[in-house]
Amino acid sequence: MTFHNFFLFRRFNLLLFFYFFTSFIADAQNEIDLSIRQRVSDLMSKMTLEEKIGQMNQYNGFWNVTGPSPAEGNAKEKYDHLAKGWVGSMLNVRGAEEVRAVQKVAVEQSRLGIPLIIGFDLIHGYKTISPIPLAESASWDLDAIKNAASLGAKEAAAAGINWTFAPMVDITRDARWGRVMEGAGEDPYLGSQIASARVKGFQGLDLSSPNTVAACAKHFAAYGFAEAGRDYNTVDIGDNTLHNIVLPPFKAATEAGVKTFMNSFNDLNGIPATADKNLQRNILKGDWGFEGFIVSDWGSLKEMIDHGYAENNHHAGSLGLNAGSDMDMESYIYLTELKSLLKEGEVTMAQINDAVRRILTVKFELGLFEDPYKYCDVEREQSVIGSKEMNEGVLDMARKSMVLLKNDKGILPLKKQAQKIALIGPLAADKNSPLGNWRIAAENNSAVSVLEGLQAYKGNVITHEQGVKLVEAIPAFHEEVQINTTDKCGFKAAIKAAKKADVVVMVLGEYGFQSGEGRSRTKLGLPGFQQELLEAVYKVNPNIVLVLMNGRPLVLNWAEAHLPAILETWHLGTQSGNAIAEVLYGDYNPSGKLPMSFPRSVGQLPLYYNYKSTGRPGADGTDAGSVFWSHYGDEKNTPLYPFGYGLSYTTFEYSNIRLSSNTLDLESSITASVTVSNTGKVKGKEVVQMYIKDHFASTTRPVRELKGFELLSIEPGASVDVQFEISKEDLEFYTEKKIWEAEPGAFTVFIGTNSATKRYAAFTLR
Ligand code: NOJ
Repeated sequence: MTFHNFFLFRRFNLLLFFYFFTSFIADAQNEIDLSIRQRVSDLMSKMTLEEKIGQMNQYNGFWNVTGPSPAEGNAKEKYDHLAKGWVGSMLNVRGAEEVRAVQKVAVEQSRLGIPLIIGFDLIHGYKTISPIPLAESASWDLDAIKNAASLGAKEAAAAGINWTFAPMVDITRDARWGRVMEGAGEDPYLGSQIASARVKGFQGLDLSSPNTVAACAKHFAAYGFAEAGRDYNTVDIGDNTLHNIVLPPFKAATEAGVKTFMNSFNDLNGIPATADKNLQRNILKGDWGFEGFIVSDWGSLKEMIDHGYAENNHHAGSLGLNAGSDMDMESYIYLTELKSLLKEGEVTMAQINDAVRRILTVKFELGLFEDPYKYCDVEREQSVIGSKEMNEGVLDMARKSMVLLKNDKGILPLKKQAQKIALIGPLAADKNSPLGNWRIAAENNSAVSVLEGLQAYKGNVITHEQGVKLVEAIPAFHEEVQINTTDKCGFKAAIKAAKKADVVVMVLGEYGFQSGEGRSRTKLGLPGFQQELLEAVYKVNPNIVLVLMNGRPLVLNWAEAHLPAILETWHLGTQSGNAIAEVLYGDYNPSGKLPMSFPRSVGQLPLYYNYKSTGRPGADGTDAGSVFWSHYGDEKNTPLYPFGYGLSYTTFEYSNIRLSSNTLDLESSITASVTVSNTGKVKGKEVVQMYIKDHFASTTRPVRELKGFELLSIEPGASVDVQFEISKEDLEFYTEKKIWEAEPGAFTVFIGTNSATKRYAAFTLR
């Protein structure tokens, strides 16, 4: 046997082994499913009505609050309820010991000893913090995003957590909304890919492993479309937007096997999402066959009274369960109302049983019945939390998440020797803001600052000045610092330092809690005196690299028009300063691309690349010849930086876009190809993006939609051919008939470096 044949033989054997092994696992998995079903039924046959209702009740922990502080429910009462079997889940209890303590009451003191499922907002890392989700999404690197989720799961699971309230898969088009930091941005295709990667990362291949947690797709649905970007506000969108834009990432999460869903605070077209039967029972549990359970958002059952939709708690309980909300987070309504609602015939026993079955199934799948304390090992907690593996993981993700917005005159990368650098800005030495929002378990001030990151490179002299000071803020919600808005006394020293410097690095943006839940804003410029500081420094030294830290797109017109370099770093997490320094010094070549359009003005919002043409589009959106077209009198229609935009320290050229055929029929596929060349001097990564335009359809269609992307690494001087397969699935949408299908007609494919690319080829679907 030649070496080649031997290799083939071995490969064949390996494949055979793999085939039998995977079918064995699949069989075993089915058996597990069957046995879980049986075990759930057995257990339910022993449960009283109170115990069943108890499983549908979730309490917040005794201290750490991620919503309005509840009026009821002191610690003592909660322990009593745990012992009575009236609580199925707790959130915001964390740490192996704390979790063990509550679990012990549930398991050892309640009649049936049903373990609790412990929920937590593991949004971007537990204690070792990864970049905010919007930043991670800017990497367009699905493997890295999945890995970040699985590392977060491992760290949180070591601290007693077995269920995360993530990923947030809400599509968002409005940067005023503070929670854009928590999602994957404006695009349903990218959002779906990322939703799937995150679910798989959190849940892994085996939910019962001690390193994985159950995931939760939230907020179902349309929470990201809050009117005027004001959090919790009304949502009014039609079926076309709901099905084509909002729902796809939720569907992708379902297909990835997500175990739970959370509904949302908003009302959607007149119905609070918590009571939306069509969404929860018809679409999610019906059409999509979702078998997991739905938890309400914090107090969202009770909030239906404020919405003016429920008359009182009693009514809210009935609305929630009838609509398929299985677990009540912090409203105390199911616990108090379900029994009487059942008696009155307002809800049915079948509905209660269905909810309980769903909840218990996830608990069995997590392996909680085998060992309720499997997440409560203090030694494991100590060795996993903050470990080298965690820090290396978040550093890797941080490098990949940055977006180079501008780099003229080759000011970046910075020279490593003999430079005088003035490092200016309130966020330059801040160790708290880079952690961003939603990092409950992180220690305050635990991030590596930009100052520390730059200081690790010894060759240059660095002078640091805040310019605009940070001030102490409300310590609740970890809000240690804010950017001061009253005092400019730091300007003088900053200007002095800038005058003497070869290069000025200015670190400006939003403090860590300026975006996130309840953090909507009407102004999107640099907050406080930062813009004024930037312009004052520019007057004495225009050689400025602007390093931005923020949780949402900002309006950056002045910076774009005047500064030679802008680097978007978002809130990058624990290893922030190290990652930023590597990029500034060229040890890492940035490759991130924007997951949201950056507006020129707040007045353009909502702003997104996949808009509809309108009947008066103007010539290429810039027609100056007439007033009667869809535009503003005082601003362009286009964004400052489009969706998918981002530069590199090298340059890429696209050429030779071609199709394998100009016609596609419903049963086959065609290939779209393009050649991408690295025309610069260093190796670089490029996200090659493919967009498709459907020219004419039974409902109006977006001007283009992302339908594929490929992250490539290319050596300088090299060229790579990239191919995308296009089949009818890529052309499907929610049609006039209210089903997903592709309609024959003319299409255009665009392939390029961002959503504004003009390079195209055309084909027809027959
Ligand atoms: C309210 C938020 O909307 C939700 O995303 C979060 O998971 C819960 N609070 C629990 O903290």
